[in-house]
Amino acid sequence: MSKKEKLSVESYKGVRDFYPEDQAFLQYLTKTYRQVAERMGYVEYHASVLEPAELYKSKGADNEELVNEQTYTFLDRGGREVTLRPEMTPTVARMVAAKRRELGFPLRLFSIPNVFRYERPQRGRLREHWQLNVDLFGSNSLAADAEVIMVAHELMKAFGAQQSDFVIKLGSRTFLNTLIEELSLSEQDSKRFLGLLDRRAKMPADEFTAAMSDIGVPLERLSPGAVPEDVSQVLDTLSVLGVENAVFDPSIVRGFAYYSGVVFEVFDTHKDNNRALFGGGRYDNLTALFDDEPITGVGFGMGDVTMHDFLSVRGLLPTYTPPTKLYIAVADKELIPHALGVAQGLRAEGVAVAVDFCDKKLSDQIKTAVKHKIPYLLVVGSNEVTSGTFVVRNLASGAEESLKRAELSTFFLHL
Ligand code: HAM
Repeated sequence: MSKKEKLSVESYKGVRDFYPEDQAFLQYLTKTYRQVAERMGYVEYHASVLEPAELYKSKGADNEELVNEQTYTFLDRGGREVTLRPEMTPTVARMVAAKRRELGFPLRLFSIPNVFRYERPQRGRLREHWQLNVDLFGSNSLAADAEVIMVAHELMKAFGAQQSDFVIKLGSRTFLNTLIEELSLSEQDSKRFLGLLDRRAKMPADEFTAAMSDIGVPLERLSPGAVPEDVSQVLDTLSVLGVENAVFDPSIVRGFAYYSGVVFEVFDTHKDNNRALFGGGRYDNLTALFDDEPITGVGFGMGDVTMHDFLSVRGLLPTYTPPTKLYIAVADKELIPHALGVAQGLRAEGVAVAVDFCDKKLSDQIKTAVKHKIPYLLVVGSNEVTSGTFVVRNLASGAEESLKRAELSTFFLHL
């Protein structure tokens, strides 16, 4: 092949390659997600990334922008329309509806899927992201709304965030729907109204005011002082539980048409990352797509990309260390079998070890270990073979320790 014909090493635009350090961060996120969700009484489920396209097209489940412009939809070999899931909520609603008789309610579920949206890649927005989904089904109590927000709050704490680092803004679809009814807004005006509210923070105040007066919504009806009853109850419960950073914000709408009650969005308060981190809300009718008797749900989705930005601006990213704790360099290629034997012995004792058998200069072997960020190195040379004593070097500090073969695993297992 000429140079021109070579394939690009770039991934498909907006999807993710996870090199070991990226994968380690994703593992840190998922481990924390799992620990917190399980501690709060939620259990894990999973599903395929492929769904029939109609799941997102059906009335009630739709967000027009998402369905028409942001889904990856294709025909399978049998001519069926298939979509790569753009979110998990329709999937979990389908799964709950399918087994409604066997499942016990209230049902607390969580999952950590990757989801795909055809969006313009930008800061915090990619075409593929991993999203923790926490959902509670079968309870109309506002305690359920408070509980899922509590899970969100616990997660932020588990990642090392202080309450002043983020704010939880609650809105109410019930309140907005009542307002729309009271003001007799047409369907078109209601859509415009909700869309404008959603974009309020991103537009000049006078433009928003003008648009509201054009639609006929008095601004005082959107005052943060007039807290709707559902939001007020949830805020009270949260406050009893020690959540001090939750507030009512009448502009919180959330994009999906299926939300029907309290909705919320968590914002970063950092000046360099002043944006929405994640959100969710109550959806009463989504399972009605499958069944006449709907099961109410409330939950949220938290993405890995926005979380990474949050942790990064606050210096809360964990430092990477590879699982491999020891790198064995080999002074002479004749000794490779001996080095492999030492490695196998240590592995059997529970130590993660890799051997350099590439017959390079010792200095190059050490460089490789440093590149991989492996914390310790030892050299197998003829002296070590004869004496059975090894010098273990800490590659970060340069400190060395002489240890008998039998002492090695104790050293590593007690790090
Ligand atoms: P959503 O607001 O569309 O809600 O997404 C939830 C979170 O996923 C966002 O706040 C953000 O953290 C992340 N996210 C969304 N789109 C992208 C993107 N293109 N790139 C990176 N991250 C992204 C939902 O998906 C609802 N289904 C959540 C839910 C669960 N509601 C109730 N239960």
